[in-house]
Amino acid sequence: MTDIEIKKGLAGVTVDYTAISKVNPDTNSLLYRGYPVHELAATEPFEAVAYLLWHGELPDAEQLAALRATERAHRALVPAVQQAIDLLPPGAHPMDEIRTAASVIGAVDLADIGNVMDAVGTPDENLDRSIRLFAALPAIVAYGQRRRRGEALVPPRDDLDYAANFLWMTFGREADEVVVDAFNRSMILYAEHSFNASTFTARVVTSTLSDLYSAVVAAIGALKGPLHGGANEAVLHIFDEIGTADNVAAWLDQALAAKRKIMGFGHRVYKRGDSRVPTMKAALDTLVEHYDRPDVLALYTTLESEFVARKGIYPNLDYPSGPAYNLMGFDTLTFTPLFVAARVTGWTAHIMEQQASNALIRPLSAYNGPDERHIEGYVPDA
Ligand code: ACO
Repeated sequence: MTDIEIKKGLAGVTVDYTAISKVNPDTNSLLYRGYPVHELAATEPFEAVAYLLWHGELPDAEQLAALRATERAHRALVPAVQQAIDLLPPGAHPMDEIRTAASVIGAVDLADIGNVMDAVGTPDENLDRSIRLFAALPAIVAYGQRRRRGEALVPPRDDLDYAANFLWMTFGREADEVVVDAFNRSMILYAEHSFNASTFTARVVTSTLSDLYSAVVAAIGALKGPLHGGANEAVLHIFDEIGTADNVAAWLDQALAAKRKIMGFGHRVYKRGDSRVPTMKAALDTLVEHYDRPDVLALYTTLESEFVARKGIYPNLDYPSGPAYNLMGFDTLTFTPLFVAARVTGWTAHIMEQQASNALIRPLSAYNGPDERHIEGYVPDA
């Protein structure tokens, strides 16, 4: 056992190739299919980036129009999903809600498939399932927030693009352009990030030849954790605890003395800053100006500079996106489901990539339990 090297948390282990995205901590860059993510965020609608992740190329006008038509056709909350959500207790966490809803979508879609081998699906079927999940998740997030607030369902609008319609279904009014733009950017930045914990989970499930929906449901479970996607929600809890910029130093003294993790900071791969933060911070700046909330910026910058000065650990994407979603009007508990709605594009791209060149993912473990022992009085069968 002594000569086995354990890579705890698989840190530093390369497990496979991917052509979907490249994370380069040395140059602090992130490429989707070769394109820098900040260029995509500045120029493309989220639908085009979804197309890029699935197909490897950006769509031309006709391809984008076709994707948008399919997306619009599957936006409405299907009755079985609404009923399933309505059966959940009002206190259910929105991540449990969206995980359940994704599972119901899969059960309904695969209802006529009698055996596990056929549920795996062809590449075309899985692309179709990916687009339909991408289209269906915003209504689930929006309905969840409205239900918790005691507000009625808002049906989708056919004349709005993905980001504008998402905000429409959540708030029941058309969002200003600056808000739609910031939201669209956040979706693009959250869409994909190589072999992160939730994507790897999706690939592990896929590697058993389970279906796309099962892989996405498992990925949602992995994303919920505060060391991963749950951090954007956790950042706002921290902001609420601190209150104002004046309280940062004293709060940080206590938090660090108690050895607390400061959510929204640190990353397994980026050790000198997350490549997505400058783009999301710029979007946050536009929202701070739009809503005239310099207090949010003061708290943001004070906590960042104090924490970086003390620990040398930099913000990750969840740090600017938490306050950005708060300014847009999303409830804090809705933040991680927004991450789900974006990341479903990356997950499904990885599921299809895994299916295209599959090998069962099954690592080894080094046993460190008791030595072999026996049940007293046990007599083997003759
Ligand atoms: N607050 C305080 N200390 C931290 C933080 C933090 N946010 N992040 C890392 N550290 C410290 C650890 O305590 C550890 O210190 P030690 O060596 O004295 O024990 C050291 O830095 C290394 O940290 P690890 O957790 O071992 O680093 P790892 O690479 O495994 O973790 C992780 C990365 C999980 C993201 C970590 O930085 C963290 O918990 N951050 C807060 C949660 C968060 O923001 N997650 C979002 C990730 S990005 C995303 O999902 C979009």
